[in-house]
Amino acid sequence: MKPHLLLAGVLAPLLLIGACSDLPLVLDPHGSNAQQTARIAWVLFGGGTIIFVLVAMLAAFAVFAPVAGRAWLRHPRFVVGAGIVFPIVALSALLVYTLAVSGELARSRVAAPLRIAVTGEMWWWRVRYLDARGETVLETANEVHIPVGQAVELSLDTADVLHSFWVPSLSGKLDMIPGRVNVLRLTADTPGTYRGQCAEFCGAQHAKMAFHVVASAGPDFDLWLAAQRMPAAAPRTPDPEQGMTLFIAHCATCHTVRGTPAVGRLGPDLTHVGSRLTLAAGTLPNNAGTFAGWIAGSQHIKPENRMPSFDHFSGEQLVALATWLESLR
Ligand code: CUA
Repeated sequence: MKPHLLLAGVLAPLLLIGACSDLPLVLDPHGSNAQQTARIAWVLFGGGTIIFVLVAMLAAFAVFAPVAGRAWLRHPRFVVGAGIVFPIVALSALLVYTLAVSGELARSRVAAPLRIAVTGEMWWWRVRYLDARGETVLETANEVHIPVGQAVELSLDTADVLHSFWVPSLSGKLDMIPGRVNVLRLTADTPGTYRGQCAEFCGAQHAKMAFHVVASAGPDFDLWLAAQRMPAAAPRTPDPEQGMTLFIAHCATCHTVRGTPAVGRLGPDLTHVGSRLTLAAGTLPNNAGTFAGWIAGSQHIKPENRMPSFDHFSGEQLVALATWLESLR
């Protein structure tokens, strides 16, 4: 195969991935940490490409050149130089470069006025906004809202097994390790919604453990924060009380909806769940229909997650429950 065809074969999948803009991509950075990571990726990719092309050309030469012309390929000095010395020098240079840049990243200690604690749980994300004393001022789930252009400090821990917090467009990944708190500082340079994904295998539904980081301008972020701190809005379902009554009877041991008697801590805080982008950590779009489906069949959609399928509800009850939850904006 001709070298340019080979190169096209290598590049085509990358370009395709880049074309699907919703997918998180290391090579599409929107924050300073991510820019450093992207630079490492390009240097490694460039270095790898140069070495690949050189080796392909040598291999082609070894096969097709006249026998007398390629005798030097068998010279011990060439074999030692190209086979041992060159790989050691090239790999060491790339390693030193990578360690230098990632060391710089690890040492950066930008003061971050906004502190957010994110806890990985099987298989969703508990998100708590903290005040200066480290007390929780607001809890939400599966979405981290941050102001653009401002450094944010994320304290990452886990409630059960190993998880890993990764938003490729904003930063490299950082593991969530039982018994420890790892700190990740990041800044988003452009407003947008950036998809994140658990990057450490954590059980059957690891792939369905996604989240979003929503970066918005300062005033928009302040508005969001103020709205999220409010208790849940009064029900506005056809039978206003029914959805909330069902929720308190069946769901309150696990979920909190601030402003109601539901104060469960096992599952995500649902006070403003209607305002979120997705349900079940990036698994479903968020509307009353998917909500009803999730309540009735959560074990079919995401087997082994901690929420049982509530398949004993009647259709009418499901509608009331889902409509009420969806109205919690
Ligand atoms: Cu959590 Cu993988």
